[in-house]
Amino acid sequence: MAKRDSFSSRFAVLVALIGSAVGLGNLWRFPYLVGTNGGAAFIIIYLFFVFVLCTPIVFSEFLVGRRTQCNTFGAFKKLAPGTKWNWVGLIAVISASCVLAFYSVVGGWTIDYLVKAVTFRFTTSDQGQLASMFTDSVSSVWEPIIYLVAFLGLTCFVVVKGVKDGIEKFSKMVMPLLFVLVVAIAVNSLLLPGSQKGVDFLFKPDFSKVTAETFLNALGQAFFSLSIGCGTIMTYASYVSKKENIAVTSSLTGVFDTLFALIAGVAIMPAVFAFGISPSEGPGLVFITLPHIFAQMPGGSVIAIAFFVILFIAAITSSISLLEVPVAYLKEEFNMSRGKSVTICFFLLLGLGVLSSLSQGVLSYFKIFGLNFFDLFDFMSANVFMTGGGLLLVLFVGWKLKKEDFMDEMSNGGTLKIKRWFLECVYFIVKYVAPLVIIAIAIASIIK
Ligand code: PHE
Repeated sequence: MAKRDSFSSRFAVLVALIGSAVGLGNLWRFPYLVGTNGGAAFIIIYLFFVFVLCTPIVFSEFLVGRRTQCNTFGAFKKLAPGTKWNWVGLIAVISASCVLAFYSVVGGWTIDYLVKAVTFRFTTSDQGQLASMFTDSVSSVWEPIIYLVAFLGLTCFVVVKGVKDGIEKFSKMVMPLLFVLVVAIAVNSLLLPGSQKGVDFLFKPDFSKVTAETFLNALGQAFFSLSIGCGTIMTYASYVSKKENIAVTSSLTGVFDTLFALIAGVAIMPAVFAFGISPSEGPGLVFITLPHIFAQMPGGSVIAIAFFVILFIAAITSSISLLEVPVAYLKEEFNMSRGKSVTICFFLLLGLGVLSSLSQGVLSYFKIFGLNFFDLFDFMSANVFMTGGGLLLVLFVGWKLKKEDFMDEMSNGGTLKIKRWFLECVYFIVKYVAPLVIIAIAIASIIK
């Protein structure tokens, strides 16, 4: 068999993993959640979840991928042959495809808005007009589908070239640009008169706003932002060398993802407040509120271009990691060439994407459990597949995999000098704390 593709260095692994983690979640959800859930108070809770609870889960996902050097389905088959555990690998494949089914539609919108920014279409500062521009664009039939094809096509174009020549090369090229641009916009935002209010909104601790829901929000966001539970980390980790330090690489991914989210907050919120607008979350923030601000800002048309470049890069690097999950599965489990598995995924995902896209317009009346296609994919992936997948993963690593195997993989067969107490703590969290917290949060969400 041909040698399996792999990342060429620690830096390459890290940029690819950060590319997967940094996405729309950091830009359109995190700043808003921080502001409405008590500012610094929320950040403290979020940091706790990211580093104490979720990073050990990232270790677990990483460990399964790196140990087996297989796609998600193959990985469980290898570690627990002849059992039903390989279904967990299949759930990851479904989960990643489900995220892509709506994420790639939004990815298409980012190209649409990048084109609008480059052709200076945000000239009106009338928010009503910008709102209808957005609704008209996303609810029309062909325009969003054309952009969806472009976005998915680009994603496939990178993935088809393979891990080293596609994913790694592309991530190394765009991720530094992403950080430079977001820092530049953050500095510009802070220099606007009246920006202090936005900084206060983000960072002033207000413990009175902390409720049970704050914890739910923080954990849900941490899961989504770190890309836990849909096989992307496991799949990328399967291309990582046996010499890599799992704990260091995974923790750095969490650090950069959080750092990016905070800088994005500083880029967005001060500008929102400087222009006296109330912040929102989701598509409304990035596709309506921000163009409204760009139209009034000195140099706004250039900043608009930079901003939509950021949004596009953030979305596409996450989509690439998601696509690699089903592609690796088809390629390895059905012995296909990379080209063939990418082509099959392209058409399947295009079908699902078209349904999501049309559900914003002509198909909006068609609902399953009261949700249109777009919302259904969003709901199913975040609430069912990612959470369920994350739970099954920690149960597998904590209860099915042998403890020695866990310790062996984390310490690279004992060659890394990692403190035993640290590994014992991580193991304890994976085995007991993480499953209980995930179950508790799931129950709380259902009650809510
Ligand atoms: N972490 C990405 C974001 O913040 C989304 C994502 C989820 C990417 C799951 C890959 C896997 O937008």
